[in-house]
Amino acid sequence: MRTLIKNVLAATQPQEAITVKGWVRTRRDAKGFSFLELNDGSCLANLQIVVDAGTPGSEQLPRLTTGASMVVEGRLVASPAPGQKWELRATGLELVGPADASYPLQKKGHTPEFLRAIAHLRPRSNLFGAIFRLRGRLALAVHQFFQERDFVYVHTPIITASDCEGAGEMFRVTALKGNIDEQPQTDFFGRPTYLTVSGQLEGETFACALSNIYTFGPTFRAENSNTARHAAEFWMIEPEMAFCDLAGNMDLGEEFIKAMARYALEHCTEDLGLMAKFVDKGIHERLKFVVDRPFVRVPYGEAVEILQKSGKPFEFPVKYGLNLQSEHERFLTEEHFKSPVTVFNYPREIKPFYMRLNADDRTVTAMDVLVPGIGEVIGGAQREERYDQLIENLKFHKLKPEDYWWYLDLRRYGTVPHAGFGLGFERLLMFLTGVSNIRDVIPFARTPGNAEF
Ligand code: 4AD
Ligand code: MG
Repeated sequence: MRTLIKNVLAATQPQEAITVKGWVRTRRDAKGFSFLELNDGSCLANLQIVVDAGTPGSEQLPRLTTGASMVVEGRLVASPAPGQKWELRATGLELVGPADASYPLQKKGHTPEFLRAIAHLRPRSNLFGAIFRLRGRLALAVHQFFQERDFVYVHTPIITASDCEGAGEMFRVTALKGNIDEQPQTDFFGRPTYLTVSGQLEGETFACALSNIYTFGPTFRAENSNTARHAAEFWMIEPEMAFCDLAGNMDLGEEFIKAMARYALEHCTEDLGLMAKFVDKGIHERLKFVVDRPFVRVPYGEAVEILQKSGKPFEFPVKYGLNLQSEHERFLTEEHFKSPVTVFNYPREIKPFYMRLNADDRTVTAMDVLVPGIGEVIGGAQREERYDQLIENLKFHKLKPEDYWWYLDLRRYGTVPHAGFGLGFERLLMFLTGVSNIRDVIPFARTPGNAEF
């Protein structure tokens, strides 16, 4: 039976006979014996294997080069070498799959750019092994966070006919050949359909029945932005709460980010340690800071004034009524407040139709959470629950109320104040690891011109 290296290294006493399986990181030959560093991806650390000449299978040693896969049986003994508690004294070994000298992951460090071009092999590097173990763990932490609070996990559809964000940045889904706009009524679904940009509208229907729900799934945006924080396919977490207002929504967003930072600090120690070593020296302090302190909350109007008074030569203009650009968001969170910031109450013109109109008639109950290094990580709002006002909102945004009949029904039958938000999982991971490019926290990045793997 195979033991994972993670469990081997956690042993509290020597073991008589164990079997490990993995990939060779390095091999060093000395007189009469060889050292192998074996990694199986279960943890960052390698297991050192000592092979004496004459051990059954040792004739295969010359082919056990970097990248080759193998099975080893042996005795686990205390290691005399510094920096490791255990080593495996091989009693038998077997080459499973050789790797020739063209194997691209040699011992020297590689740049993230180089590793991106070999996305099929990069999980075998220390850095990407750590990032993707962390990603897997954090996915569990997300579910745990919501399940502990009695939120129901809802699977909203990936194929949809509605543009939730109204930004028109959608991928078309069609079974038609030729001109797909000619007769969409003869298409598979009898209407034009798209890959979802957000599960929110469908999520709201479930919140208005089950009270507290969340979604966690793939999301698609056809925006042609080749930036370090945009992907065409990303994962979004969208909680939605009935009987909840903007303040309650801000509370949840803040609590959620803090809980994720705490989880990474407590449960991803080894992998986070690698990030501190090679990616972001200050990662632990940054995460502790986030866990310990309340986030700043500032209305959009005030944020604009702060930016205007900053004297900073921004590339994009700052004016009431314009969207905050990434450079503005980062100034607020990194330089001005030096803390995560929740900006709320944005002008209605620059936010989608579903947000609740405030009593001032010009702002809506929007909220964006901005974090250092990234900018926006959460976008959300209290929803417009008043039927007549929602009709007015739709018209204001030049949308047809009849296209939203089922969404409007929620306001006809037992309407309730409700609120929710979307958090981009990759942006959260960038924040938690210090990795600065979204392409490096998703297994296979989908960006303009990029879908090879
Ligand atoms: O701010 P957004 O567009 O909000 C919504 O879609 C709402 N319907 C969510 C809701 O209220 N239920 O997107 C939410 C978050 C952003 O804050 C960002 O973290 C992430 O999704 N995001 C992206 N992440 C990676 N690549 C992209 N192209 C992204 N677009 C948005
Ligand atoms: Mg947004």
